[in-house]
Amino acid sequence: MNHITRITCVAIAIANVASAQLVHNQLPVGSSFAVNGENATYDYVIVGGGTAGLAIATRLAQEGRYSVAVLEAGGFYEIDNGSRSVVPGYDFYSNGATLDGANPQIDWMLLTTPQAGGNNKSVHYARGKCLGGSSARNYMVYQRPTRGSMSMWADAVEDESWYWDNVLPYYERSATFTPPNGDHRAANATPMYDASVFGNGPLAVSFARFAASIASWVNIGWTQIGNPVLEQGFNSGELIGHGYVTVTIDEETQGRSSSQTAYLDVALKTTQLYVYTHALAKRILFSANKTATGVLVESEGNPYEISARKEVVLSAGAFQSPQLLMVSGVGPAETLEKLGISVIKDAPGVGQNMQDNPFFALTFAADLETGSTYQNNPARFVQAIDNYNEHRTGFLTSSGSDLISFQKLTDRVELNISTQAKQDLAAHADDWPEVMFWSLAAWIGPGYGSLPPDGKNYVGLVGSLTAPLSRGWVTINSSDTADLPIINPNWMTLPTDQELAVASFRRMRALLKSDAMQSIVLGGEAYPGENVTSYEDLLAVANTQAFTFAHASATCKMGVKSDKMAVVDSKARVFGVNGLRVVDASAFPFLPPGQPQSTVYMLAEKIADDIRKGWLAAGSHDEL
Ligand SMILES: Cc1cc2nc3c(=O)[nH]c(=O)nc-3n(C[C@H](O)[C@H](O)[C@H](O)COP(=O)(O)OP(=O)(O)OC[C@H]3O[C@@H](n4cnc5c(N)ncnc54)[C@H](O)[C@@H]3O)c2cc1C
Ligand SMILES: *[C@@H]1O[C@H](CO)[C@@H](O)[C@H](O)[C@H]1NC(C)=O
Ligand SMILES: *[C@@H]1O[C@H](CO)[C@@H](O)[C@H](O)[C@H]1NC(C)=O
Ligand SMILES: *[C@@H]1O[C@H](CO)[C@@H](O)[C@H](O)[C@H]1NC(C)=O
Ligand SMILES: *[C@@H]1O[C@H](CO)[C@@H](O)[C@H](O)[C@H]1NC(C)=O
Ligand SMILES: *[C@@H]1O[C@H](CO)[C@@H](O)[C@H](O)[C@H]1NC(C)=O
Ligand SMILES: *[C@@H]1O[C@H](CO)[C@@H](O)[C@H](O)[C@H]1NC(C)=O
Ligand SMILES: *[C@@H]1O[C@H](CO)[C@@H](O)[C@H](O)[C@H]1NC(C)=O
Repeated sequence: MNHITRITCVAIAIANVASAQLVHNQLPVGSSFAVNGENATYDYVIVGGGTAGLAIATRLAQEGRYSVAVLEAGGFYEIDNGSRSVVPGYDFYSNGATLDGANPQIDWMLLTTPQAGGNNKSVHYARGKCLGGSSARNYMVYQRPTRGSMSMWADAVEDESWYWDNVLPYYERSATFTPPNGDHRAANATPMYDASVFGNGPLAVSFARFAASIASWVNIGWTQIGNPVLEQGFNSGELIGHGYVTVTIDEETQGRSSSQTAYLDVALKTTQLYVYTHALAKRILFSANKTATGVLVESEGNPYEISARKEVVLSAGAFQSPQLLMVSGVGPAETLEKLGISVIKDAPGVGQNMQDNPFFALTFAADLETGSTYQNNPARFVQAIDNYNEHRTGFLTSSGSDLISFQKLTDRVELNISTQAKQDLAAHADDWPEVMFWSLAAWIGPGYGSLPPDGKNYVGLVGSLTAPLSRGWVTINSSDTADLPIINPNWMTLPTDQELAVASFRRMRALLKSDAMQSIVLGGEAYPGENVTSYEDLLAVANTQAFTFAHASATCKMGVKSDKMAVVDSKARVFGVNGLRVVDASAFPFLPPGQPQSTVYMLAEKIADDIRKGWLAAGSHDEL
């Protein structure tokens, strides 16, 4: 194949001396990079080299039976954003609520529509535009959903292969867990875990070498007010409880483990995977019988066609997979007709049903070191950088997420949750937590503004809805994927979500009043302040603070054919057309509780296995 260039070694020099450093200085030897701008044909074409895309591409290529190509709009984040994208302690950079500070080389620069549940503000919604996708931008928390939520998934799609016991092998094969190594963590920050629920997959999962001092107090405080330690950790099918959470940090390098460092680097060394970077997918091409035959692509303004002999797999994420379906004629007919797009399949569910985990926060000063210490004292920060660069230890080895707590609030009498809210939430499995709490050793004041110049050490307590009822949507106002989709997460617009947000503030305040926390809290609550107590005032604070953990999902939901809003079947095949799957967070039937990346990897592993089983079933009739 003469259009393939073999790039054996690309040196990347990044001069960034005043900062912690961890950058790959070489791309993997033997990489196969395809040439942009030339028509080509492969067996499988994966659109989007993100979290799911690189996982499924790698697994298909590893079979060595069919050719596989990946089309990715961005490049390598290690080249385009250096250590800022790799060092765990820098993970909050570029992901803020406004576009200031966001980096168009690695981010799609999406803004939401004005949010009714967020004081009508439009906020930046971070999405990775690079190999690795949002796994290259995320906060690295790795945690799985519950047994009960996976039963709901299996029931919703009428396929028992989605029950917890049946998906666990796919979670296991996607990741390797490395237990805490050496004596880096403080003695009072001992994590609980069950190593038996991990296999030896590509993704690196570990505990951060550094835990914030505040976490040790929060750890005791939650127990004191009735939320016990979850002994087996957050990866064994239960979530209600608290503890230190596993993260996608490579224990050896102390850098981010993404689908690119984990899957792609393996694939490039051991398989023939053809990778197109800076290649924007414009449209899926269909033959007259509604079979996906390839993808129209554009690089630097040049259009070309990448054809698929067998299948096209859409892995462009929760915003752009529905966008690509719509511009290609699969979506709500009304929307498509307005833009002059010919309808191949009227699919009203494309772009609907969006789910997310909105969050809000309060802040207080504490008598211990926090992230503010490093901001207040530049010499301490230089020390942290030195520790990272020289020993791979200290503050910068933490992504900021260490101690989390999952809770159900409806059964707490003191929170006085309404009968209506209880009824609304009763549809969830018993083990499905309603809220996730998280302590962040940093100032999180009104609107996430900057640290007050008072020299104090601040801590934020964050609450996030993990059983939200409000649903958002994605739509298009252009038939060109060079124009961004329009996104409306619609956070906290239903009364039950609002009630749970207010109850979350009350629960966080109960934590602050625990004996453990009282011994380190200085001067009470800094924001919103203890005088803010009424339902209306607390809701107003939730609206002021409303922001997102960026868990957008379920916009091309998996389901059964009789459900008009379902977009894909339980093997992720798009209803009404042939040769096309959606494999990424948009294909979730709903957002299971908590952080989704573990489930995105599981989904990619599982669908790759379905495809492989399809080859075996086809046997010798299946021509190579
Ligand atoms: C700031 C942030 C923090 C987060 N924190 C956590 C966390 O701590 N834990 C957790 O579990 N989850 C977290 N998440 C969520 C998690 O990272 C995502 O749910 C997951 O990565 C989504 O995977 P995906 O495959 O669906 O999409 P993505 O990984 O976003 O992949 C989509 C890919 O498609 C590419 N693409 C899109 N359109 C086109 C096109 N037209 N042509 C070519 N390529 C295209 C994109 O560039 C991207 O590479 C976070 C997300 C963000 C943004
Ligand atoms: C690529 O394919 C398209 C469609 O088949 C065709 O119109 C175009 O001429 C091809 N380009 C090249 C450079 O072969
Ligand atoms: C990474 O992106 C951030 C945000 O745009 C920017 O401040 C920083 O300089 C970038 N770093 C590198 C090495 O490109
Ligand atoms: C948001 O906009 C709506 C509609 O324009 C308006 O009714 C509402 O009062 C606004 N809310 C806030 C907090 O400004
Ligand atoms: C659809 O048409 C293509 C040729 O364009 C053919 O290869 C394929 O078998 C057909 N598929 C179905 C399901 O009829
Ligand atoms: C509990 O909530 C109801 C409304 O949902 C309200 O009428 C009642 O006064 C509340 N009770 C307490 C003790 O807050
Ligand atoms: C389409 O939506 C985008 C994003 O909301 C907006 O910037 C643009 O102006 C809109 N274009 C048209 C033609 O309405
Ligand atoms: C709470 O107190 C602060 C500072 O004294 C004040 O600005 C704010 O308006 C008060 N809020 C309420 C709801 O009383």
